[in-house]
Amino acid sequence: MGKGSTRKILCFQADMLNERLDLLADYPFARLANLIAGATPRSNEAPVAMSVGDPQHQPPAFAAEIIAANADKWNTYPPLQGVPEFRQAIVGWLERRYKLAGGTIDFETQIAPVAGTREGLFIAALLAVGRAKGGKPPVALMPNPFYQVYYGAAVMAGAEPVFLTTTRATGFLPDLGAIPADTLARTAVFYLCTPGNPQGAVATRDYIRKAIGLAREHDFLLILDECYAELYYGDVPPPGGVEVAHAMGRGPAGHPLDNVVCFHTLSKRSSAAGMRSGFGVGSPATMTALNRLRSYSCAATPYPIQLASAALWRDEAHAIENRALYKAKFAAAARHLGKLPGFYSPQGGMFLWVDVGDGEAATKKLWEQAGIKVLPGRYLTKNEPDGSNTGIPFIRIALVHDLDTVERALARIAQVL
Ligand SMILES: Cc1ncc(COP(=O)(O)O)c(C=O)c1O
Repeated sequence: MGKGSTRKILCFQADMLNERLDLLADYPFARLANLIAGATPRSNEAPVAMSVGDPQHQPPAFAAEIIAANADKWNTYPPLQGVPEFRQAIVGWLERRYKLAGGTIDFETQIAPVAGTREGLFIAALLAVGRAKGGKPPVALMPNPFYQVYYGAAVMAGAEPVFLTTTRATGFLPDLGAIPADTLARTAVFYLCTPGNPQGAVATRDYIRKAIGLAREHDFLLILDECYAELYYGDVPPPGGVEVAHAMGRGPAGHPLDNVVCFHTLSKRSSAAGMRSGFGVGSPATMTALNRLRSYSCAATPYPIQLASAALWRDEAHAIENRALYKAKFAAAARHLGKLPGFYSPQGGMFLWVDVGDGEAATKKLWEQAGIKVLPGRYLTKNEPDGSNTGIPFIRIALVHDLDTVERALARIAQVL
């Protein structure tokens, strides 16, 4: 095939592709690769990647044992809704974690397994973004900075993404009172993350109550990304949407979880990101619709993974241990970086979000001088309407490695910064 015909095919393909794809900027890690391309670390020590939130602890051995013991089940299609044992384990965890009476959540109708919260967060937008609201294009609200999947989901579902500034002044959460009434009237979905990525802020009960109140009042779906719910460093666990919604009572359609769906994962709690196992919980109506959508679009969680996941949700000991490992790393961070003017210890999550003046310059410097890869904050933020970008001064540092590696990397970061 000659060069000309190849070009013709490429042109044809560009024409046939969904033009919404053009709105998806390069994923932050591609931008990071570009930023440091060609630069060689001068450090003699091995490079350390602290750019990606990729947990490096190990899940408990029993997970792999269960998967191996159920190897005879790889031949069949697993049930899309999950086997009862899996969903019962999830409900048991939810009721323990959020101090709900047994039987509050119905494992038959209210749980949808997902291949990691990423998948659930993406398809949840397709669930809620539909017809125009009030004759105008639907809006997807999300914090700024934000987990990129919220944006991708909003764009591909055909919503207009509207970014809500989160800065130190707003407690690193969107100011719910500042959302214009005409935006709320057009809102189809609102993504909220608690504890948040990248800033690690935890929404209070009152905050979540207000967000659910807005969802009920303006008839949109509040999508609570609670993937870091088990990585917290205060004395009390972060509150969750399920618990707050139940305390509020029935919603407009008669169920406490009307207008709310919460996503959880084993990726962070159990350091089992490779299992791709999470779930969504919501009202029976929402979850029936989500499962219907999944039956057209998603792969069911493999059977051996469902059984291993059930055991992980039932076990608390490893999650406590995992949290303690992160806690020790954040304490190390305070020791090494605590004197930086922009340093704070987050309430939850696995990241440091540090104001270093110029995040891209600091990222390059850290790579060149210390072989440490971090992520410039601006790759996680969109410009504000006035053209400014609140992420510019920041870097995000993922504390995902073992304590010793993190401790040595932090010492190198402290030296460079
Ligand atoms: C805020 C946030 N939400 C969701 C995810 C997706 O996690 P998973 O799909 O592994 O459950 C991540 C992963 O880094 C994240 O940071």
